Amino acid sequence: MNYIGIDLGTSAVKLLLMDGTGKILNSVSKSYPLNFPYPGWSEQNPRDWFEATMEGMEDLLQNQDSCQVKALSFGGQMHGLVLLDEKDQVLRPAILWNDGRTEEENDYLNQVIGKEKLSTYTANISFTGFTAAKILWVKKHEPEIFSKIHKIMLPKDYLLYCLTGVHATDYSDASGMLLLDVKQKKWSKEMLEICGISLKQLPVLYESYEVVGKIKEEFSKRLKLSSDVLVAAGAGDNAAAAIGTGTIGEGSCTLSLGTSGTVFISGDSFRLDSYNALHSFAHADGKYHLMGCILSAASCYSWWMENILETQDFEKEQEKIVHLGENPVFFLPYLMGERSPHNDAKAKGAFIGLSMDNHREQMTQAVLEGVAFALRDSLEVARKLGIQISSCKISGGGMKSPLWRKILAAVLQTRLDVVKTSEGPSFGAAILASVAAGEYVNVKEAVAAMVEVIHSEKADPVLQEKYEVQYQKFRQLYPALKTCYAQ
Ligand code: XUL
Repeated sequence: MNYIGIDLGTSAVKLLLMDGTGKILNSVSKSYPLNFPYPGWSEQNPRDWFEATMEGMEDLLQNQDSCQVKALSFGGQMHGLVLLDEKDQVLRPAILWNDGRTEEENDYLNQVIGKEKLSTYTANISFTGFTAAKILWVKKHEPEIFSKIHKIMLPKDYLLYCLTGVHATDYSDASGMLLLDVKQKKWSKEMLEICGISLKQLPVLYESYEVVGKIKEEFSKRLKLSSDVLVAAGAGDNAAAAIGTGTIGEGSCTLSLGTSGTVFISGDSFRLDSYNALHSFAHADGKYHLMGCILSAASCYSWWMENILETQDFEKEQEKIVHLGENPVFFLPYLMGERSPHNDAKAKGAFIGLSMDNHREQMTQAVLEGVAFALRDSLEVARKLGIQISSCKISGGGMKSPLWRKILAAVLQTRLDVVKTSEGPSFGAAILASVAAGEYVNVKEAVAAMVEVIHSEKADPVLQEKYEVQYQKFRQLYPALKTCYAQ
């Protein structure tokens, strides 16, 4: 039997077809526009997601035995607000995870309601990208739309709804809404009250590997699939990527370098970061995890290469970088504000330390290093909690660069493990589909059978020492600039 994993990313939807042993039979990617209508805003049209997904499915299944597909599932960009009216029509463009318009609502939640209460209700505090703050924003700025809300959904759940007709979500993705009592795995009635919404406006909760329904007949016919294709709830993209890299169990870690960058630490039981800098979320294996998220990771690098240097030749630019660990130039990667650990929507990107003798390769190097330093900030919070991290699995497009991996291993002072199937969230989603269909008894067994580490990158000890000195300098830069950003 075969399985489809659909990863609804920020720049594209990535689809993967695999067999029951985890062998990849085909994969495709379809992109769609990302709109920044005002500075700090970030929106997409949910219909674009669905159309791209349908086109992607058609391409994915071309020359494949469609009848062999038994189940499909999703990974998806988290926190996005999708609003449907009573006819299940999209009410406005989706407000994405990296949208910073909700500063006022975020301050209201953290300061007026208070971080302590939020943490008691949900295990988390508010960040500008989290869904609750966006609901309050729509309530204040678009009351007409607010009054028409029939269903509140997350991005991947919109695809699930279109394919099955069911309004459902999973615990890992729901964790990022600031509406879920993460520990108890139920919607928080206090948070619903604070946001002025009701339980019936929210989707039904499932574990990521549970079956939600079957694909609608019109789509099974169009895609020449059997009418019995099961659809599993799926997971937020980071939890799905963690499944795809086999990051389950106590203290296992995965780093992802996509549009965002995350440090994801799985755990067998619920755990709270008392600093609230790391998110405390449900994992897609039925357990829990902690996570730090930086809003701009590989996106800083593509911004620098494509928008500023106007080149597509990433390898050629990297070839000129030779003096690792000794760069006088620093880069702060806060191009969309910052989430973990600073929680500052006003933070901005910056190059610091430039002089007349600097070259473009030092600036390119600074971008790669700045992202690694920002991820180290989250890892430091985890280490402060007493979590020992000596190795991390990796996923995301940025990890394809051997140079960036070398920098990351030295900055983070950890071994990086590369898995055979590097697709991350779409692979994780297909694994969840295989569990939902009964191919494996649980996620643990599925991961043990399908995920394999093929290469490990150890931190170079000399470079590690040099980068420790560099990181201590980097740490001083955000506090020094914080007041300028606020003005
Ligand atoms: C996680 C987060 C991002 C998005 C990116 O909290 O906001 O990783 O999920 O797709």
